[in-house]
Amino acid sequence: MQHQIKINNANINILEAGKGPALLLVHGFPLGHTMWQHQIEPLSTSFRIICPDLPGFGNSELPPQPISIENLADSLAMLLDELKVKTVTFCGLSMGGYIGWQFWKRHPERLDRLIAVDTRAAADNEITARGRRVQAESARQHGIAKLADEMIPKLFAESNLQNRKAEVELIRQSISQTNPATVAQAQLAMADRVDASAWLPEIKIPTLFIVGQHDSITTPEEMRANSEQATGSRFVAISQAGHLSPLENPAEFNQALLDFS
Ligand code: MLT
Repeated sequence: MQHQIKINNANINILEAGKGPALLLVHGFPLGHTMWQHQIEPLSTSFRIICPDLPGFGNSELPPQPISIENLADSLAMLLDELKVKTVTFCGLSMGGYIGWQFWKRHPERLDRLIAVDTRAAADNEITARGRRVQAESARQHGIAKLADEMIPKLFAESNLQNRKAEVELIRQSISQTNPATVAQAQLAMADRVDASAWLPEIKIPTLFIVGQHDSITTPEEMRANSEQATGSRFVAISQAGHLSPLENPAEFNQALLDFS
């Protein structure tokens, strides 16, 4: 069931399915809830799935105040208040993972477990942050007509560009339909995000790190190193997958998630 809830003066779109412990699925940049399409049905027999479009993304409105990683985490906590959900397993991919670290910091009482998917704890280095500011300006001035073409080869494992045509098309649509103002704001928010690396040893709740074996954006090496910092966490590499492991190899991804619960 999809419905909308007003948070911070913006309508936020949410897909909900299933019954059980709450599983919050938080998408990456610049995508929407549809990137979790292969998780909804198979996992809804084990979980109450809460799958929002983050503010400004997918079918959610952009709120009046600028996006930050902190206020995205807070808006998810507000969403849980509205849904009367006390605690969740937070599963965030890439930008969703950046929000996950802030959710852990700011709303620890809401977290049962944390799943960090194709993401990293470190902040941007100077070059990456500068590149994001240039892209934000370009999105504002010229729109995002080329963004899908630029991003897609980096998001998928090379073989999946051919083998997973429907998923590639879904992501192309998702990127192309994103509001350029959201793209600009989210790039600035990611450029300004704090480094969560020092928090990793303090994370005592069960934590799972999942990464596509061919992820070139947030590599298996970096994610394994992050997981080694987080006491007692688990690390799983998904075969035949790049940066979008839930979409590229759902069978392995879903099994990893179920084995963790
Ligand atoms: C994502 O998938 O959310 C992006 O790769 C995040 C980023 O640009 O760092």
